[in-house]
Amino acid sequence: MSRLSPTRRTLLGGGLAVAGVGLLSARGFARGPTPAALPARTLAPATGEKQVSFTAAERSLRLMGPDRPASRVWTYADEPFHLVRLKQGETLAVDFENRLPEHTSIHWHGLRIPNDQDGVPYLTQPPVKPGKRHAYRFTPPDAGTFWFHPHCDTVAQLGRGLAGVMVVDGDETRAYDADVALVLKDWRLDEQTGDWLPFSTTRGALRAGTFGTVRTANAEVAPVIKLPAGGDCRIRILNFDSTRVGDLSFDGMEAAVVAIDGNPVPPFPLTDWRLGPAMRLDVVVRAPKAGGQGALVDYFSAKPVTLATFSGEGEDRPAQPFDPAPLSRGDIPEPKLKSAERLRLAFATAAGGKSALAAAGSDDALEQALLDSLCAAEKTNWSINGDSWPAGDHSRVPPPLFSLKQGRTYVAELSNETPHVHPIHLHGFTFKVLSSTRAGTPVHYADTVLLTPKERITIAFVADRPGDWMVHCHLIEHQETGMMGYVKVA
Ligand code: C2O
Ligand code: CU
Repeated sequence: MSRLSPTRRTLLGGGLAVAGVGLLSARGFARGPTPAALPARTLAPATGEKQVSFTAAERSLRLMGPDRPASRVWTYADEPFHLVRLKQGETLAVDFENRLPEHTSIHWHGLRIPNDQDGVPYLTQPPVKPGKRHAYRFTPPDAGTFWFHPHCDTVAQLGRGLAGVMVVDGDETRAYDADVALVLKDWRLDEQTGDWLPFSTTRGALRAGTFGTVRTANAEVAPVIKLPAGGDCRIRILNFDSTRVGDLSFDGMEAAVVAIDGNPVPPFPLTDWRLGPAMRLDVVVRAPKAGGQGALVDYFSAKPVTLATFSGEGEDRPAQPFDPAPLSRGDIPEPKLKSAERLRLAFATAAGGKSALAAAGSDDALEQALLDSLCAAEKTNWSINGDSWPAGDHSRVPPPLFSLKQGRTYVAELSNETPHVHPIHLHGFTFKVLSSTRAGTPVHYADTVLLTPKERITIAFVADRPGDWMVHCHLIEHQETGMMGYVKVA
């Protein structure tokens, strides 16, 4: 297997002409059009219901390669990162069985669904105990690339692989020659035995997180992925890692970003993109010519890492300039900025290792959550607005970070008071990223945004559905040691 030796950014230059939007700057679309410039959807929404069964269980998988020791992964189905594919408008009915030795639940990351389907133990549903089942049923409103994962003891459950991909079709305006999901995840493996190393370390939890030892794409080390030669292919990149921020670039292939966290953006050339934990990026690439190769490379570390190689297979498609069509516009409620209320969320280290707890207003479900060692950490390292998700003393209940009025627009300033990056995720709402102190941040919609050291990012969203919605860092060791809270919409 020949591997490309990554050379930094071999495909810069070559301006990308996009129908109707003209030439975009290579650095992103700070100067380009906003998602409002996208075409309206052309596909009629589907109806009907799709039924699936998942069984969370321990299974064996050779993550390090066919001739290396196997590892005991936790997955929802026989294959890792089980893919659920729906048509926009279709309802999903999930019959979920937990055959793990501990309780779990399924959070549907990025889906704007009712709060009682959001999958947060105690906050939105009881945990699904070992041997028990739980039914989920919802209709995802948006097309795009999403995922699902547990929400307590995530450091170990996700660390062992418990996560799946959800694709909701319906945003295409032109058919692609291939459509591939590419899940990036590192694993904390002892490379001699295939056994797990500790998923969290004190040092990691206090800093940038504990990194995996084995890097994979689609649960394989540097796989070779076949694409139709010369074709225009949609690659849905998902970062399922608990820690790693990738600085992603394609080598030897033209590539354009068409969606961020599943939300369409006017296509712009992918030069490099920082993809933090939980974030997704939909890219259209021009597949290599027959016999040729290209690669997805992570340039974040000093030594670039080839995550996956792509080979061109079959007859070359007729050569045409690379000009990917935009996806159709999403349907996210537009924030009303004039009447918006302002919020501030400061992400910082923990004040004193103990959380500030409300003296009153406790509720039984939350109290139970705080008594459950799978859902509450032993100590806190991090905070939001000075409060840490409780640890240690579990006898009291945290109040919501904010109580929001249903239907109202909120503009929130997220500020990073630490020297580390934090991928900040809000459940239930797709927010508009309005501005950042970091140059080149485009206006776009997202459910997770990477807050770099000392950065401030302003987002806006319409609080259109009631419930308790988590907001947290998706660097799981930060989330589980305090950088988590919730907003109450009523
Ligand atoms: Cu991927 Cu609380 O979320
Ligand atoms: Cu963080």
